[in-house]
Amino acid sequence: MPVYLDCAATTPLDPRVRDVVLRYLDEDFGNAGSRTHGHGERARSAVERARGQVAAAVDARRPEVIFTSGATESNNLAILGLARDGGGHIVTTAIEHHAVLEPVAELERRGFAVTRIAPDASGAVSAGAVAGALRPETRLVTMMHVNNETGVIQPVEEVAGLLSGHPAYFHVDSAQGFGKATAALRNPRIDLISLSGHKIFAPKGVGALIARRRENEPPPLAPILFGGGQERGLRPGTLAVPLIAGFGLAAELAVAEEESRNRANGAFRAALLAGLAPLAPEINGDPHLAVPNIVNLAIPGHESGEVMERWHDLVSISNGAACASQHFQCSHVLAAMKVGERREEGALRFSWCHTTPLPDFGAMVRALLG
Ligand SMILES: Cc1ncc(COP(=O)(O)O)c(C=O)c1O
Repeated sequence: MPVYLDCAATTPLDPRVRDVVLRYLDEDFGNAGSRTHGHGERARSAVERARGQVAAAVDARRPEVIFTSGATESNNLAILGLARDGGGHIVTTAIEHHAVLEPVAELERRGFAVTRIAPDASGAVSAGAVAGALRPETRLVTMMHVNNETGVIQPVEEVAGLLSGHPAYFHVDSAQGFGKATAALRNPRIDLISLSGHKIFAPKGVGALIARRRENEPPPLAPILFGGGQERGLRPGTLAVPLIAGFGLAAELAVAEEESRNRANGAFRAALLAGLAPLAPEINGDPHLAVPNIVNLAIPGHESGEVMERWHDLVSISNGAACASQHFQCSHVLAAMKVGERREEGALRFSWCHTTPLPDFGAMVRALLG
């Protein structure tokens, strides 16, 4: 079996999380909205436990956690929910995931002005450039915490500092940062945070939007779905209790084990770079600014498609972001970084986790050098 090196696309399930999910699928299968019996009570208490676990992970309060289907929905709720009444200005970056790019583009079509900040060659945007784009009528600043293609950590705390005194809401898509660089998310000036379960060893289909109160006032979000009023009317629909219970535990473990996971990930990265050194890889994005579990690189003289074919039985990797790779688009992130066509065409994304075994680097090198 090839070694799975695509953890930025999705992680395997933590067996401890699986146990919790199975309990709420099989035994305690009640509807958290049922008020008349113990089945409902047990489901509700699982959801509330998970809400406490997610809130604690980012120093939020329990009512500030809105469970969703994942970071895509959280991003849509934050962006469309805040800026519904056409007009105003949004600041974002050129390297966002499509789950931010697209709702922002939708708001642009509805009449919002949008400023998109480009990164430099390191893969990071400058906090000063983000703050410099603010206008009196800026309603929302939305940027990612960790880039999903390069792993480069964005200066969200610095931006939070520069935003003090400006009324704009600050949303951070932390699908890739939570559990890797969580401390930044505890900054109280970050109003909204998107989290995803399947990037932290919980199942796919669950996540959260943290909507922090400012002077005890929640952000003025409007729902994007309408129904039975769950999640304070902001995300109606029967709660996915098994997924939420699993996500809660995964969030608690992500923080409790963050340091040791990061250490293991860093050791893997060192081994990967040493193992592939004979191929003289060119790294896209400054590795000193990156989380320790993602490396994006090109191997001179080899296009990504060819490399992935030759390594097919050795490793499962991605050429850039998994969602974009279905359409064979070149990466908008690498284009914004201006790495050059050759390095874009050769771009390979390796992403792993603390349990990933080392692949056979010797065989990988031989497969390309012949
Ligand atoms: C930065 C970023 N944002 C959002 C998403 C979407 O997350 P989800 O799959 O939970 O909707 C991803 C997933 O790849 C991501 O990497």
